Amino acid sequence: MKKLFIKTYGCQMNVYDSARMADLLAPLGYAPADTPRDADMVILNTCHVREKASEKVFSELGKLKELKDEKAANGNQMVIAVAGCVAQAEGEEIVRRQKAVDIVVGPQSYHRLPELIARISREKGHALETDFPAQDKFDSLPESSAPGVTSFLTVQEGCDKFCTFCVVPYTRGAEYSRPVAQILREARNLVDRGVREITLLGQNVNAFNGEGLDSARWTLAQLIRSLSEIDGLARIRYMTSHPRDMGEDLIAAHRDIEQLMPYLHLPVQSGSDSILRSMNRQHTADDYLRLVDRIRTARPELALSSDFIIGFPGESDKDFEATLKLVREVKFASAFSFKYSPRPGTPAAASVKHVPEDVKTERLEILKDLLLEQQRVFNNDFRGRTIPVLFDKLGRKSGQAIGRSPYLQAVHADNAEHFVGQIQDVKIEGVFPNSLKGALIDDQTRTHEIAC
Ligand code: SAH
Ligand code: SF4
Ligand code: F3S
Repeated sequence: MKKLFIKTYGCQMNVYDSARMADLLAPLGYAPADTPRDADMVILNTCHVREKASEKVFSELGKLKELKDEKAANGNQMVIAVAGCVAQAEGEEIVRRQKAVDIVVGPQSYHRLPELIARISREKGHALETDFPAQDKFDSLPESSAPGVTSFLTVQEGCDKFCTFCVVPYTRGAEYSRPVAQILREARNLVDRGVREITLLGQNVNAFNGEGLDSARWTLAQLIRSLSEIDGLARIRYMTSHPRDMGEDLIAAHRDIEQLMPYLHLPVQSGSDSILRSMNRQHTADDYLRLVDRIRTARPELALSSDFIIGFPGESDKDFEATLKLVREVKFASAFSFKYSPRPGTPAAASVKHVPEDVKTERLEILKDLLLEQQRVFNNDFRGRTIPVLFDKLGRKSGQAIGRSPYLQAVHADNAEHFVGQIQDVKIEGVFPNSLKGALIDDQTRTHEIAC
């Protein structure tokens, strides 16, 4: 039996891809390894979105080279593969920088891994595959073999929007939506294997327009309606959405479809119209605020989260103030904020108006404080409330289980280990910065004791 170790960087789509790679290599005899040292093959599934993320890969490769040499000295082999967005963006350059790499495979080509492994064992040297499009990949991926209680399911890939800061259109290629029948097949397989919650993924998931069951193009809302008819699928989520593609039918789905969770990740990036224009986001701050109003009218308790880029070229104090103003108006349940990172080949990187590092640092701290305060207020409001939690794993403490609220908050509860895979009502008793502590409400504990 051979062993495989996959290290995943970046977004949820990479998490999904890593799971698919493991499924793809299982029939070749690869079982999961706990560490790279135990592995015959190591895959780094990489992210190119910010400089830090992509540079991490090369330092990790340096360590893997040492391990590979050590193994070779003992007569053992180790195959090193680089997959994901750095593989797509840098291609041959990766092998030039680190000769120990055997395989470079892009995010749309990893279904060809078995063939690439065979090629390098036949011929000396390395193998590289970074072809588009995404369609061939989805046509040839095996069924998911060992999902948990919750699972990701990629329904859309790539991006045609070309925000001026972003590498995704270059690394993931043009927008592509999978056919609905293929998605439903995958979702039913997941539910048959015990999955209770599916998060539909796409770089622009709400721009979904895959071939429907009636061969017309379906929207994401139509896809969600169809998924909500699958028996046993208790919760549906989706990410990441672009404000421009938030159609009326999707907003209505939040009002009408019980399984669609009241949580939405809707990146705004900035609250300044002139920065939004330079970013090519194609909406104004006011468009975003009005959209939030419409969503909250449809589903008042919906929790909103977002992404922000601080220090985009040309961002003035006034622009930054506009971002703070938008945040104060919306009141987010959670959010990610990043310093702008110039990416090679993107239009914004060539700007002459870069914001000094110390200004970026200072602004980021101010924004993070405000967002954390909003998160605290949002979570504090749950103290004493009873909410349904889908438990998906055991906690570190004996008897403890961890799950998610409908609003994607992590919730842990004691004496709950038998409820993994189930939705249980939990009373919130403690609020921490990144999680809630709850107690199973009494009659459920009692029912369980009787059942045992
Ligand atoms: N499709 C999503 C975002 C995908 S990338 C959208 O349109 O919003 C995930 C997040 O990384 C982005 O929302 C953005 O906040 C951040 N990001 C992307 N490029 C970046 C860059 N060059 N510097 C800093 N953050 C970046
Ligand atoms: Fe990147 Fe913009 Fe596409 Fe999102 S919409 S993936 S930020 S180019
Ligand atoms: Fe990173 Fe690629 Fe995802 S650049 S954020 S892994 S799409």
